[in-house]
Amino acid sequence: MTAGSMHADRLLLRRFDAGDISHLIELDADPEVMRYLTGGIATERSAIEQEILPLFIDAHRNDPPFGFWAAEEDGRFVGWLSLRPVPDTGSVASLGYRFMRRAWGRGLATEGAHLLIDAGFERSSIKRIVATTYEENRPSIRVLERLGMRLKRRFRYSAADLAGSETSRPSKELWPGDDLEFALDRQDWISSRA
Ligand SMILES: CC(C)(COP(=O)(O)OP(=O)(O)OC[C@H]1O[C@@H](n2cnc3c(N)ncnc32)[C@H](O)[C@@H]1OP(=O)(O)O)[C@@H](O)C(=O)NCCC(=O)NCCS
Repeated sequence: MTAGSMHADRLLLRRFDAGDISHLIELDADPEVMRYLTGGIATERSAIEQEILPLFIDAHRNDPPFGFWAAEEDGRFVGWLSLRPVPDTGSVASLGYRFMRRAWGRGLATEGAHLLIDAGFERSSIKRIVATTYEENRPSIRVLERLGMRLKRRFRYSAADLAGSETSRPSKELWPGDDLEFALDRQDWISSRA
């Protein structure tokens, strides 16, 4: 692995650059992709240009495997994954992913997430990787279960939490259901590889 890319069987994970604007606009314009993130509302171009893409380019860029990764299959953008240290923990990182609808149903998200999890535990001293999802987001829950992550808690995002989202622009209205936090501890990751 170089600082700039990682490979799995079918996926190349590479760092974002300025040319990815159109990819993120297309991804976030699909109401099915955004269904459990914003209720289906597309992300505005200005937010992608001014806030989201700069974050994706800059965050932890020189500290792989942390940060945001554009996922490509055969040279074509299919989505993104992220692994970000959770502030003030010193030992926990948070996993995220969003894929184009045309890439769903083939295990690509699971493949990319496996790569990031392995790299996270191999190349840093983190002790736990967490991921959160909405209780009705079955495809995302299935990804987390396939990764060997376990449900740790149910909780509700507050309006302030939603307003602070850095990767989408959810409505400030709270949804009726719970959010779920899954986690994989280093020890369980080691056991799963034995
Ligand atoms: C969450 C999301 C990435 C899941 O995508 P996905 O394609 O269902 O997930 P995977 O890439 O792991 O593929 C799994 C599917 O491929 C199938 N599959 C085919 N080949 C496979 C393989 N080699 N390995 C694993 N699964 C494979 C699985 O059976 C599964 O299908 P199923 O759900 O019908 O059983 C996608 O729904 C998405 O981008 N949603 C919008 C954004 C979002 O909600 N992100 C999460 C926020 S918390």
